[in-house]
Amino acid sequence: MGRMSTTIPTLALNNGTTIPQLGFGTFKIPPEQTRDLVLTALETGYRHLDTAQMYRNERGVGEAIAASGVARDELFVTTKLNNAFHAHDDAHAAFDRSLDELGLDHVDLFLIHWPLPAVDRYVEAWGALEEIYRSGRARAIGVSNFEPHHLRRLLAETTVVPAVNQVEVHPWLGNEDVRAVDAEHDIVTEAWSPLGRGAVLADPTIVRIAADHGRTPAQVVLRWHLQRGDVVFPKSVTPSRIEENFALFDFELSAADLADITALDRGERVGSHPDEMNNTGR
Ligand SMILES: NC(=O)c1ccc[n+]([C@@H]2O[C@H](COP(=O)([O-])OP(=O)(O)OC[C@H]3O[C@@H](n4cnc5c(N)ncnc54)[C@H](OP(=O)(O)O)[C@@H]3O)[C@@H](O)[C@H]2O)c1
Repeated sequence: MGRMSTTIPTLALNNGTTIPQLGFGTFKIPPEQTRDLVLTALETGYRHLDTAQMYRNERGVGEAIAASGVARDELFVTTKLNNAFHAHDDAHAAFDRSLDELGLDHVDLFLIHWPLPAVDRYVEAWGALEEIYRSGRARAIGVSNFEPHHLRRLLAETTVVPAVNQVEVHPWLGNEDVRAVDAEHDIVTEAWSPLGRGAVLADPTIVRIAADHGRTPAQVVLRWHLQRGDVVFPKSVTPSRIEENFALFDFELSAADLADITALDRGERVGSHPDEMNNTGR
């Protein structure tokens, strides 16, 4: 199948590091299945893994990395700060636990998972992430679920510009205002729930474009994200889908296809709005 020779496009981050534009998402992958499924992803050719402290599966991700035999410098590993730990010292301790769980001496990207506006400590948490970045144990740092007003405050009050902003984006939620502010500051947008958790795949426009190209709806949606310049990491517990979601680099959508998919935006979220999410699990 030649899949081992597939070259995954990379994007440059604003600190000079690079990120593979396609990765494997692990939200809701049960801890006991994580090792085997992440290993399947690595064997398929994925080299970018997206996990989080709150997913409780970092250990399985680390076990798969160790079992895969893939060289560490060929991998891009992201994890995210648990909402309970925005306090400076808590953030450091949580990061240390992540490295321990993953069995790694550094991650490629460490993110603040949610801004938690009612908690109002994301600026403090960012201070800890800046220290972790300067220590070399995170090659880049970034944020997730930051609305433009959260980003502007961070930029005004801190030193390091986030390398990425990981936010919900799919055909029913273009999130164009956030993407525009990210682009203005050379922050790469990562599109979470790129398939809208599966809901958008039955959209008649997506189904039509998939038929036109002889591809699946998921492949068409992922291709749309890639051609818009965002990073994606679809999640699946189904090995055939893990493979399907990787087969994206031998076809291209036309400008008209892209415009038709972009026009499906109806502001519909599958997850929480960042201004309303304040759950620290405490
Ligand atoms: N930063 C954040 O706050 C945040 C929030 C949410 C997600 N994320 C990240 O983004 C990743 C992806 O988002 P997500 O997991 O929410 O949703 P998603 O990737 O958009 O969708 C996953 C769902 O789509 C199904 N699916 C996957 N590939 C498919 C295919 N080819 N055909 C049909 N159905 C398919 C999966 O089913 P099966 O698994 O049953 O195959 C699963 O139900 C997460 O895993 C996580 O890493 C981050």
